Amino acid sequence: MAIPEQVISEIKYRNDIENVISPYVNLKRRGKNLVGLCPFHSEKTPSFTVYPENGSFYCFGCGVGGDIFTFTGLIENLDYIESVKLLAEKSGISIVEDNYDNSMQKLKNTIYEINKETARFYHSYMMTPEGKWGLDYFTRRGLSLKTIKHFGLGCAPDGWDNLIKHLKAKGFSIGDMLAANVIGKSSKGTYYDRFRKRYMFPIINIRGNIIGFSGRALPEDEKKGGKYVNTSDTPVYKKSENLFAMNYAKNHCSEQIILVEGNMDVIALHQAGFPNTVAALGTSFTKEQVNLISRYSKEIVLTLDADAAGQKAVARASELLKNSGLSVKVLVLPEGKDPDEFLRKNSPEKFKGLLEKAVNIVDYKLLTAAKGIDTQNENSKLEYINKAVAIIADTDDVLARDLYIGKLSEKYGITRLAITSKVEELRKTKARQKQKKEISEVITPRYSRDDINPERRNSPKATAAEETLIAILLRHPDFFEEAYTALPPEKMVTALNRRIYQLLSDTIRSGKGIDISYFSDRLLPAELGYLVALQNGDKAGENPKIVLKDCIKVILEEEMLKTNTNSKDLSVEDWANNLKNIIDTKNKGEN
Ligand code: UTP
Ligand code: MN
Repeated sequence: MAIPEQVISEIKYRNDIENVISPYVNLKRRGKNLVGLCPFHSEKTPSFTVYPENGSFYCFGCGVGGDIFTFTGLIENLDYIESVKLLAEKSGISIVEDNYDNSMQKLKNTIYEINKETARFYHSYMMTPEGKWGLDYFTRRGLSLKTIKHFGLGCAPDGWDNLIKHLKAKGFSIGDMLAANVIGKSSKGTYYDRFRKRYMFPIINIRGNIIGFSGRALPEDEKKGGKYVNTSDTPVYKKSENLFAMNYAKNHCSEQIILVEGNMDVIALHQAGFPNTVAALGTSFTKEQVNLISRYSKEIVLTLDADAAGQKAVARASELLKNSGLSVKVLVLPEGKDPDEFLRKNSPEKFKGLLEKAVNIVDYKLLTAAKGIDTQNENSKLEYINKAVAIIADTDDVLARDLYIGKLSEKYGITRLAITSKVEELRKTKARQKQKKEISEVITPRYSRDDINPERRNSPKATAAEETLIAILLRHPDFFEEAYTALPPEKMVTALNRRIYQLLSDTIRSGKGIDISYFSDRLLPAELGYLVALQNGDKAGENPKIVLKDCIKVILEEEMLKTNTNSKDLSVEDWANNLKNIIDTKNKGEN
């Protein structure tokens, strides 16, 4: 990566971290730092911390961290160079593009180009007499030409290489077409169009780039090749992180967003005047999608079929949506209908009526639990009441609980007292379980949950020493030369810390001092988070110079032990020498 150092510092200088983060996170001052709810995972108590002092942030909940570039990259879904560019633009700094050798970014741009050209190809083909079958289909399904263009719909011709030929003529390479996943490679080594004889829906990210496609089979072919073929994950597309039509919905959903199941449902709803509608792309709803939505909206309406699959989907989604800060409602459609079918037979006003009658998640769960209950039968009634009590106990709002307890009591002639005591009993059990879980999480070291340094398990003591050493050098770069002489990077026991130590050595020796930006594009977000946590933690202690020496000793001992046990082919003399060294070092340290 070759954006000049001065440009990076200039951008940092003009964008202080508080200003960069505050549009996305409500930050409150705590001492010299700022805290807020982490935008990268769902939480109720703030563990996202901003350190204005050194321009970094770290989330103690999920472990991400970094600087303004990392933050922008994560929140806007950009890679390093893109976020540098965005922040440069915001602060009126111009950077010339061609100087940067960033092959990944180049590939991504090429994929965007390929996707754009592919979408154009499918759309133009649909507008020719040969492709009229596609246009007819969408028209038959009630879409206006305006809607068709708005969503860039098209159709893929039958045949194995129509798109390949077209993209070749436009100058794209086979390798890049494969990377974009618009073509495939057969076991015989030949290439073929992935989408053939299908109605095509481009998938567009929030920044307006086409990142992939959904291709629907003709009704008569549905059983043959799969109803939908979707783009697999590519460098620009991760289906678990995107939502169909979020590029449009994001501008209309500040109050409420509607989640439906299918592409056609989204399109029909947009056309009917509900542009705040999105769909998960052929997957079940994910945490990343929840986070994306919670950045733009206050309330989500789960719009799902009345069938069992729909119920299951609501249960799953509501679990994911807990603690997301979004209020959750459920719109139940008449049996056997999806929103698109509903709108084909009913007016948009009718749908609006359903939307207004959407119930909150507790009501929805109570309603579904009540299904098939025989109110004449005491056992059946009791079974329902028990289910209802569990649902109420699962509600965190005390007023809501009281309200539902009242309703249940009235409806089934059971005293409030009895229901309340049952609810509280369940809540106590749950609280105890939660507490146990939390305690066990606190006792186990911070990084062990999803440890980014997997070698810690083999060498916990040396790993801790390495971390302390890195923490000290981040604070006291002037100790570096001394440390480096005693402990060259190759002696670091774990690969991650070896890499970080090497990077540290590069930046300190180049005289640039310690600046997190230097690491932004060299470490993964979680690794950078680890580094920021070390930087802002208190491992350095009162007497860093002495601690540093101790760390080096621990690391060297472990390293020697390792080399020793690893070297089965060592001669007896060498082995004895090694052992002696270890003992010597130990003794030296103790004097
Ligand atoms: P549906 O089968 O309900 O399709 O799948 P649909 O959207 O209602 O399509 P029409 O109305 O029959 O034309 C819902 C969604 O699930 C995904 C697609 O995103 C689809 O829109 N899906 C479905 C797949 O990804 N692959 C499949 O094979 C089927
Ligand atoms: Mn449908």
